[in-house]
Formats: sequence, structure tokens, C-alpha cells
Amino acid sequence: MKEKIILGIETSCDDTSIALLSGEPGPSISSPKILAHQSFSQELLLQKWGGVVPEIAARNHLEKITPLLDSCFKEAGLTISAIDAIAVTTHPGLLGPLLTGINCAKTLSLLTKKPIISVNHLYAHLEAIHLTKQVTYPYIGLLVSGGHSLYLKVSSPKHFEILGNTIDDAAGEAFDKGGKLLGLGYPAGKIIDELSLNGNAQKYSFPVSHLNTDEAMLSFSGVKTSLRNFIEKNPKDSYLIEDVCASYQEAIVKALDLKLKKAIEISSSESLPIVVGGGVACNSHLRAVLSAHFKNVSFVAPKYCTDNGAMVANYALRIFDDALPFPKCLELDARGQYVSKKEKLDQQRKGQTL
Ligand code: KG4
Ligand code: ZN
Repeated sequence: MKEKIILGIETSCDDTSIALLSGEPGPSISSPKILAHQSFSQELLLQKWGGVVPEIAARNHLEKITPLLDSCFKEAGLTISAIDAIAVTTHPGLLGPLLTGINCAKTLSLLTKKPIISVNHLYAHLEAIHLTKQVTYPYIGLLVSGGHSLYLKVSSPKHFEILGNTIDDAAGEAFDKGGKLLGLGYPAGKIIDELSLNGNAQKYSFPVSHLNTDEAMLSFSGVKTSLRNFIEKNPKDSYLIEDVCASYQEAIVKALDLKLKKAIEISSSESLPIVVGGGVACNSHLRAVLSAHFKNVSFVAPKYCTDNGAMVANYALRIFDDALPFPKCLELDARGQYVSKKEKLDQQRKGQTL
């Protein structure tokens, strides 16, 4: 099929990110070409609050989205008439921030008559592997971000089966909340990763939950409480922050590693490729441990791990036949979040929402 140009819009949390890319629609064997990709991260603004404040994040998206769009089209040397579809993260995410991107996509669609492709943020994170590398289906996906930790079997760009989930916090949340307890700033994943490079991961023992269960089930509330207890019991000058970070990170990575083995067992497909994506997939220790234990593992390139517009446009290209003109393209699901018509039907069939 003829190459298509996709505009990707991502505003599900605290990154406003826009991309323009071109490529062959469908699960193509070659990576798409990035024509422009620009982001604004609210990290510095949100540091004051120690986390994401949805209302503030939404207002910032509103402020940044139009200049970013403008600047991306300039970078690519294109006008809006050149695009074939508008891809937008519609779910899951924070309602206010999501609505900012969705309203922008709807407006552009109304003005230009270009179709919208509703993008599931989690699927886009994993499928971002194809921005730099071709991995064949089916594969086992480990999605580790600030809001989710999921093991999935991915049979096609549209078929994702959940093999395991977290019952409380996500891995990124464990990093961020742990970092907050240690006074490290927000988001703390990258800071803990860097400090850990000079720390002794065996110095302290933080718990790994559900060690002996056969499910690919994760839980990070225990390790967080254990860190809180450690900080309350030990005066600041009695430990090296690097050792605490390395030991805490060790417990999170150990859980993700052990439960990946369980997820593979559950899928009964030992030899499938494994793809790791989402913000926490940037973590150097996670990369080292999983690479040592699983020979067929690939990681999304670090620049496409945290929230970005390129992964949204890339995923939309892979499900291009879902493109529909507004307003037919978007449906509200049982949780009041926008999804595509196909995903709503899937949700009703499986009784599952992501
Ligand atoms: O995928 P993402 O940008 O946002 C969500 O969809 O949630 O992931 C953000 C998360 C944050 O929790 C952040 O602390 C974490 O990814 N993160 C890391 C690293 N870089 C980002 N966690 C551990 N090590 C890192 N190097
Ligand atoms: Zn994300």
C-alpha cells in the first residue's frame, strides 16, 4: 500500500509530544521515517508538586500543544493538508490531559476532514519497538511505565492478551514514590537509576512480593512501605543514599524479572521474542538483568520509552485501517474514556478495560 503520513498527538500524562512520520500502513517490515518529533516535558514544572497534578498538566498541554504542532509542521516542511490521518492517545491516562489532545485531534479532523485513529497508550508503548527494530508476532510484552506494569502476549498490532498485572502500584510509581520518600525529586526513576550505579545493591534487603506464587502478579506497595520503615528507623547520616537506591531498585527489578519467567510459562510459549517498553524500560539495571536472563529480549529505544508522539503515530500506522472520520472514530466506554469502536467491542467481549 502507498506510504501514509501520520500526525501523532500524545498528552496522556505530563508530556506534550507531537510527531509526524511516514511509512507503509499495517504491520510493515520496515520502520517508519520520522519527519518531525517535538516534545515538552512538564517535569520541571511538576517538581514543585512532587508528582502530576492532572489539572495543572492539562492546562500546560493546552498552552504547549499549538506551538508544538506549528513547529513540527515547519520542521517537516509540510502543511496539514499533507497528512493522511491524525493519531491521538485516547486512553488510558489522566482525563483532563487526555481530553486536551483529543479535542485538538477532533478540531483538526473537523477542519481538514482527515480521519482520526484512536490510540491505546499501552499498546503504543510496546509497539514502539518497531520504530527501530522489527520483531515478529507473537511476542511477549512487558510494559513498565509510571501508571502500568503489565505482561502481555501480543499476537498482532490489534491482539493483546493480558498474562499478568500489578495489584497495586506500577513499577514507575514504585520508583517515583520511593524517590519522594528519599527526597530525590520527581520523577525519580532516572535519578535512582543513576545513583544506583555507585551503590551496593546487596547492602539492604527490600522485599519482593508474591515470590512463590505461580501467577505473573506484581505488587510494589510492600517494597515502598519497607523503604518508608527503613528511612524512619535510620538517621540520614547512617547510610549511603547510593546503597539504599541500588538495593531498592534491585527489589523492583527482581520482581519484574521473576514474574516475566512466570508470564512466559503462562503463555506456554518459551521461545517467543520478548519486548520491553514504557518509561521504566530505560532503567539500566532492568536492561542488564533481563538481557542476561532472556536471550530473545529487545528493549524499545530509550528515546521512545517515555511518553512520546512518535510511538502514537507509529502504532496508528500499524492499525491504519481503523482510521475513521470524526465523530465516528471515537466511542465512550464503560469508564467514560474515549476508545475506538473496535476496542469498545473487544472490551464488551472480554469484559476488560485497560
Ligand atoms: O511511560 P512513561 O513516560 O509514562 C507513563 O505512561 O506512565 O513512564 C514514566 C515513568 C516514571 O515513573 C519514571 O520515573 C520512569 O518511567 N522512568 C524510569 C527511568 N526513566 C524513567 N524508571 C527507572 N529507571 C529509569 N531510568
Ligand atoms: Zn506512558
